[in-house]
Amino acid sequence: MLVLGIESSCDETAAAVVRDGREMHSSVISSQIELHRPFGGVVPELASREHLVKIDPIVSEAMSTAKVTFADLDGIAVTQGPGLIGSLLVGVCYAKALAYGLDIPIVGVNHIEGHFYSVVFENPPIDYPALALIVSGGHTNLFFVSEEGKYKLISRTRDDAAGEAFDKVAKMLGLGYPGGPAIEKLALEGDSARARFPVAKISDGRPDFSFSGLKTAVARYLRENEFTPALDGGETSQWAKDVAAGVQESIVRSLVRTMEASARDLRPKTLIVAGGVACNLALREAAEAAATRLGLPVYFPSRYLSTDNAAMIAAAGTAKLIGGQRDGLDLAADITLRLQNVDNDAAALKHRARYKL
Ligand code: KG4
Ligand code: ZN
Repeated sequence: MLVLGIESSCDETAAAVVRDGREMHSSVISSQIELHRPFGGVVPELASREHLVKIDPIVSEAMSTAKVTFADLDGIAVTQGPGLIGSLLVGVCYAKALAYGLDIPIVGVNHIEGHFYSVVFENPPIDYPALALIVSGGHTNLFFVSEEGKYKLISRTRDDAAGEAFDKVAKMLGLGYPGGPAIEKLALEGDSARARFPVAKISDGRPDFSFSGLKTAVARYLRENEFTPALDGGETSQWAKDVAAGVQESIVRSLVRTMEASARDLRPKTLIVAGGVACNLALREAAEAAATRLGLPVYFPSRYLSTDNAAMIAAAGTAKLIGGQRDGLDLAADITLRLQNVDNDAAALKHRARYKL
């Protein structure tokens, strides 16, 4: 089964051609980082306009790199949500028009489920049940995946996503956007013992994450120590490096501690860590150490597949198409699309709605 994947949920326009859900024939990504950098974050209106300009050439490039024609395709998978509405609409409308024109099936894919599938290309087949930590700029979720396509949400963030915490602290330190890679680089030369930050505990006993307190703690720490950021590429002080190391350590500890405790409880056969923050080496090392303690394999995507891409969307969509799922031309972009189809506790989800996910 040859599937074209299309991703445009945030600030990457991406297209990929994947065979049988595992064999990547092409994966083309046009990043908008330079466009948004002067603003210190993604500007939604600029993002959708750029997607409009890029989507057609990026799809064409994915097709020509894969050396296939539209007639060879068996289906199209497109990110339906969550994400920015203007950005999502570009991908969804383009994919629907293409599927209609070619008279081939289309499926909408949840972006977070896409990140889960990013590990299928370079790892052995997933042995279920799996416990998956999906950590990116917009999401921080831990899922118990009892079998393919069945997700139970175990933990989620009550406020900021882990990647968002990296990005916000980086901004405070006068580092560029995106902040995760900048913090990781600084942290290599820092000592977390000299700038310790706490890990938030949730008072209602749920195994959830919270990172907004960390942001506040760092802001207070910087204020109390009269920190001035080294702007315009100036020399970064040892002090900022220690803060970067302390912040990274706190985020990684929070993520891995919760994943390890849940694994002891739920006894999965495979651990998965995916999403943009999975690029972080400290997180990878801590997750590997936890996996060793648990006696379990842990799968990561390569760095290239950790951040947003369309190959993961094609892989997730292929599983759906093989399972007989089809969407109609009424497929709509959904900015709040949730991923939880097992034990969907309506009361708990309502409770959740009070928090930013
Ligand atoms: O998955 P992704 O590309 O987009 C979303 O779906 O959000 O993730 C982007 C996020 C950003 O917050 C970025 O700072 C973070 O992933 N990130 C990192 C690293 N590389 C990217 N965070 C920590 N360490 C990194 N090396
Ligand atoms: Zn993502």
